[in-house]
Amino acid sequence: MKSAGEYAALVEQALPRQLSGLGHMPERLKEAMAYSLEAGGKRLRPVLLLAVCDAMGTDLSSVMPYACALEMIHTYSLIHDDLPAMDNDNLRRGKPTNHVVFGEGMAILAGDGLLHGAMELMLRTACKTDSLQGLRAAEAIARRAGVTGMVAGQVMDVTQEGGQVTEEKVTYIHAHKTADMLIAPLEAGLILSGAEQEEIEAGISYGYHLGMAFQMVDDLLDVIGDEQVMGKQTGMDAQQGKMTWVALKGIHGTKQDAAEHIRLACDAANHFDQGVKFFQELAKNTLNRVQ
Ligand code: IPE
Ligand code: IPE
Ligand code: MG
Ligand code: MG
Ligand code: MG
Repeated sequence: MKSAGEYAALVEQALPRQLSGLGHMPERLKEAMAYSLEAGGKRLRPVLLLAVCDAMGTDLSSVMPYACALEMIHTYSLIHDDLPAMDNDNLRRGKPTNHVVFGEGMAILAGDGLLHGAMELMLRTACKTDSLQGLRAAEAIARRAGVTGMVAGQVMDVTQEGGQVTEEKVTYIHAHKTADMLIAPLEAGLILSGAEQEEIEAGISYGYHLGMAFQMVDDLLDVIGDEQVMGKQTGMDAQQGKMTWVALKGIHGTKQDAAEHIRLACDAANHFDQGVKFFQELAKNTLNRVQ
């Protein structure tokens, strides 16, 4: 097993290649897609996929298109999330948001391009290798990102702005807008590695609890975080009346609930055959993250 930083470095190297591999596209579109995709970010979702595949002894170069596809989908979700019609943010990954630089129309299209590019990459890889596992992994990623997953969570997030905060609603928002996209790398990586159903279930449970805690900390950082360090605006959730865990439980309660989810993520990781320490450490670090 490598460190999370080493997996992230592999992703950093692969992303421009995978983007170019999509073929000739309008120059401005490519510029807008690369602007957000290559702006950095923690690369958590592809790191999780590479780590779980590595733990299973799967060749990393063969799964790199799926890892990059996850980061492309995540980046598209951020570009759209920042649009004036959604969270109306002007800072992301330490840079002006995509629509601020390229205009709203191109930002929407750059998001569309990243999403479809991700699907193309995964499906092309699965077709080329005649791999049913590849197809199943692509299906899992599309499903977790889609209308029963991340998109569903975002719908609830934007439609419930200013509404009465309930635990049921915030749990739904967190589970779908964020946790589904952290379950996806575990589920897809384990499928690509030919794991047993029981192992896949443990991976899903780990991703769920990690994702819930990850979004609780995201809500917390919007209140107590440092804009410079995070590279994104703070204080926007309260201003927009977002349904956050902090609005529900306060700062102390949010920290407690995030710690409990991390404990459950670590429990789930105990069922992994390999990489237990890596996944438990990564989960624990989530509680102390500052960006
Ligand atoms: C931000 O995700 C959006 C959430 C789901 C909380 P990250 O915190 O992973 O953002 P990057 O990829 O590091 O920029
Ligand atoms: C976004 O949640 C989740 C996505 C699916 C992009 P937030 O709106 O809280 O993410 P940030 O705080 O803007 O990164
Ligand atoms: Mg949002
Ligand atoms: Mg946002
Ligand atoms: Mg946030």
